[in-house]
Amino acid sequence: MIFTDSAAAAVFADYEARAAAEQARFGASSAERPPIPRDELLLPVGPEVGAFLHALVLGRRPARILELGTSYGYSTLFLADAAKRIGARVITMDLADYKQAHAHEQLVRAGLADVVDFRLGDAVAMIAADPGPFDLVLLDIWKDMYLPCFEALYPKLADEAVIAADNMIHPAGARESARAYRAAVAAKPDLQTALLPIGQGVELTVRWRADNPKL
Ligand SMILES: C[S@@+](CC[C@H](N)C(=O)[O-])C[C@H]1O[C@@H](n2cnc3c(N)ncnc32)[C@H](O)[C@@H]1O
Repeated sequence: MIFTDSAAAAVFADYEARAAAEQARFGASSAERPPIPRDELLLPVGPEVGAFLHALVLGRRPARILELGTSYGYSTLFLADAAKRIGARVITMDLADYKQAHAHEQLVRAGLADVVDFRLGDAVAMIAADPGPFDLVLLDIWKDMYLPCFEALYPKLADEAVIAADNMIHPAGARESARAYRAAVAAKPDLQTALLPIGQGVELTVRWRADNPKL
């Protein structure tokens, strides 16, 4: 069980109920389906990737976690729960004030808001304004922003930093951006990377330098 605290477990259950209702309404491909209101949907990483991120934080013990794409706070809940257990902090960024306000409310309900810095605005500008370093990054923003965000955050990665980038396999409409992102990552000599077929496809990238002073 991931959420051992009953308040966090209740927030997770509410997210799952909302995700199931949205999936029932918009998930099936049908000519009669209503147009998808992208900004009203959770668009969550899902429970499998959430559990993976939670385990990754517990195992790697990053000090500063950067989440790009708070949305309504689903993935933030997993990151913050793990961060609280190890004494880490989560910086989460999104453009939409009403989404972050909802995320903040849910994190307060879960008793986890104190480990999260909510930052509102354009991610590229906010990454540029942060001194870094980032020890673990979740990249789950609109897909055409993956490359500019990667270019902004790459110089601020800690030694042995980890990046998890979602939507590398699904949806099909994101594949061109996913390919461009994976090619940019693969071109960096200090990054090792692998595509994990979990959830909607996660590219897991680790910074690894032979001259790492910790070695
Ligand atoms: C797929 S959703 C994130 C889902 C979330 N990680 C989860 O699992 O619940 C992507 C989010 O990225 C945000 N976004 C898109 N472009 C952005 C930008 N340039 N700067 C900051 N946030 C952005 C959108 O507002 C949207 O909420």
